[in-house]
Amino acid sequence: MKGSVDFDPYAPDIVNAGPKAWADFGRQRPLCHYRGKFDFYISSDYQDIKSGILRDNETWLYSKGTSPKMLDPRLACGMMTDPPHHHGIRAIVQRGFAPRRLERLALEIDTLMDELIDAMLAMPETQGNFFDLFAMPLAARLMCIMLGAPEGSYRLYKDWADDFMYDIFNNVSDSAEAAQKGQLMAESLALLIANRRNCLEEQGVEPTLEHVGTLLPDDFISRFICDKVDGRYLTEWEIISLLLSIINGGNETTMNLICNLLWRLLENPELWAAVKAQPALVPLAVEESLRFDPPVIGMFRTTAQSTELQGEIIPANTKVMYNIAAANRDPAVWDNPDEFRLDRELATLRQHHVSFSGGSHLCLGFGLARMEVRQVLEKLVVRLPDLRLIGEPRRAPGFNFWGHDDLPVAWD
Ligand code: HEM
Repeated sequence: MKGSVDFDPYAPDIVNAGPKAWADFGRQRPLCHYRGKFDFYISSDYQDIKSGILRDNETWLYSKGTSPKMLDPRLACGMMTDPPHHHGIRAIVQRGFAPRRLERLALEIDTLMDELIDAMLAMPETQGNFFDLFAMPLAARLMCIMLGAPEGSYRLYKDWADDFMYDIFNNVSDSAEAAQKGQLMAESLALLIANRRNCLEEQGVEPTLEHVGTLLPDDFISRFICDKVDGRYLTEWEIISLLLSIINGGNETTMNLICNLLWRLLENPELWAAVKAQPALVPLAVEESLRFDPPVIGMFRTTAQSTELQGEIIPANTKVMYNIAAANRDPAVWDNPDEFRLDRELATLRQHHVSFSGGSHLCLGFGLARMEVRQVLEKLVVRLPDLRLIGEPRRAPGFNFWGHDDLPVAWD
């Protein structure tokens, strides 16, 4: 069945039900035209998504924004571009996730986790909100370390990113408050960039990658100043835009994955016991959580020209959301798709779920996110083996991110 339906992504029951509701709906309607708060299509067919929308960059544009709103063309730079220009920009960011950098970040993650768990164990009450106590500060502080922003400002950057992301996906009119916060975030990044440039100027040297990790700290700000695309340095605004893409793309997603995973395991103590008994299950648990509870339920593209999907013509310049939750639970791809299981094949999971998207815009942080959340689980089963749920988690606001910002737990 096609055409307009009464499925409303913004209805509280759908928002609260998350991926299950999106998968159920997607099975009934592989393509749906939603006309409500916004006007967009929702594509839920696994092949349409994986082999069509995520592969054909000439039809499915990224540069018009990945939300239901059209991106201001002045902002279509940095990461917010289409191939072929996008390839060079991606390569710059990718160099920042080189194996040696990830190895060093793994050490930072370990130190941060121990600090956060020590603080939990020192609390007189042996219970609290795991999101506030662990998932959020871990991911947000690591983000500041990666960028080269002051670690003490992690809450500020995380709140700015939350407000910005909520606004572009949920508010029809741009909120003045979110715009002002975006401006503040850009100004604070501009200051950090200027400090790095001054440092090179004082030494009388040109920006080159050999200064990253030597004269300058090894982080994204240094890297974006020193690296080149098409033989030229990035403009100030390109650097800010790249930094914003990383902050916006990597904060909420990683926190969601940590809390979603822990929630599913604690909700079913047999699974938690299985991971404790067999830490080799950790990578599988992380991957199954990504499939079953995708931190991002869906993202948007814009049609460059009219195109056919499921026998329907979608006009040019139309927003289409690809439904990650439905692709991840497609019964043609997965046995018992609505069950969270630890006996699936790791390679199959990794190959088929689309929680990190795919094609030219495949998430650049996927290696880091996988590594970080594996480390989290390995650490928790050792240092907090008696973790247990003591209440219902609270759904974080927004329709297309799937996460919980209150996960009430207790420990001994
Ligand atoms: C569990 C964690 C994460 C999930 C589920 C996730 C998911 C995604 C998804 C679905 C996209 C595609 C967006 C689209 O199609 O419009 C994406 C892109 C991206 N992600 Fe992630 N992400 C995660 C973590 C991270 C982290 C930690 C970083 C950076 C530190 C990051 C940086 C990016 C960037 C820069 C892009 C844009 C890539 C491009 O346009 O070429 N992500 N991510």
